[in-house]
Amino acid sequence: MRTIKLGNSALDVPVVAVGCMRINSLDKTGAERFVQAALDEGANFFDHADIYGAGECETIFADAIHMNDDIREKIILQSKCGIRNQIGTFDFSKEHILWSVDQILKRLKTDYLDILLLHRPDALVEPEEVAEAFDRLEESGKVRHFGVSNQNPMQIQLLKKFVKQPIVANQLQLSITNANMISAGINVNMENAPSLNRDGSILDFCRLNDITIQPWSPFQYGFFEGVFLGNTEKFPELNKKIDEIAEKYNVTNTTIAIAWLLRHPANMQPVIGTMNIDRLKDCCKATDIRLTREEWYEIYRAAGNILP
Ligand SMILES: NC(=O)c1ccc[n+]([C@@H]2O[C@H](COP(=O)([O-])OP(=O)(O)OC[C@H]3O[C@@H](n4cnc5c(N)ncnc54)[C@H](OP(=O)(O)O)[C@@H]3O)[C@@H](O)[C@H]2O)c1
Repeated sequence: MRTIKLGNSALDVPVVAVGCMRINSLDKTGAERFVQAALDEGANFFDHADIYGAGECETIFADAIHMNDDIREKIILQSKCGIRNQIGTFDFSKEHILWSVDQILKRLKTDYLDILLLHRPDALVEPEEVAEAFDRLEESGKVRHFGVSNQNPMQIQLLKKFVKQPIVANQLQLSITNANMISAGINVNMENAPSLNRDGSILDFCRLNDITIQPWSPFQYGFFEGVFLGNTEKFPELNKKIDEIAEKYNVTNTTIAIAWLLRHPANMQPVIGTMNIDRLKDCCKATDIRLTREEWYEIYRAAGNILP
């Protein structure tokens, strides 16, 4: 598996990250097989969050991988905190961040996280408190690297004013059919542009600041509305184009959907959510393919995006 440096850190990470949000859909044996298949592919970067399955996904993962000191050294663990689903708030308070990490570590059966992400912006964030929490987590060795998710440039700048650790990653929703951050850059200055600069040029901001973008839900359209691959009713042109290119490279449509994200020069690290071993392998195959410029734009346009 091809690797990249995560942000400006020295950490080498596989370009495809394995998302564990849906691991609770597998039984014990299925989870063990899935995790082993990922390791066999060199996909040893696992993305978690304290809210996935209300914590259950982290526990299932640790059991499935048979966590011990030896295995821990061979994998890269990322988790997230800051969403409190049970009470319906976001919470970046120092107390909540520190408490969350302790619970995450217990569930993952480890004493450190390679990366901690703040999951979704908290309107009541006090960046001084985040800075204190990050310092404590770094000093205690509980967290080695820090990042964010679903944050725009100004929110990151605000954090950076107080937080001394580099922000190495920003996990953002991005797929061929959810490509607003790309379209916003293409349609600069266009009166009737179909896309708004909704997220403040986040793509260029991350590139400028050496923050790795981790596209989440790379196969979904809308907000978990479904998978665009094979959905010929809603995306006939897109599926036709992806299938045509897949045939040319002798790979599946799954491989092409990930290759499209990897072709972007921002050096992104897609977080895939499949629990199907064949699809996992197809995603990993994408790291061997480099789409041409023409193919990348053909896919972009086939999804209904227009060029000025
Ligand atoms: N930071 C955030 O706010 C945030 C939000 C959401 C998710 N995430 C992270 O991103 C990861 C990926 O999210 P996701 O699971 O929504 O992403 P996804 O990879 O776009 O979707 C995975 C789902 O789509 C199905 N699927 C994929 N390709 C398919 C195909 N060709 N035909 C039929 N079904 C197909 C999978 O089923 P099979 O299992 O059967 O393949 C699975 O149910 C999560 O695990 C999590 O780590 C982060």
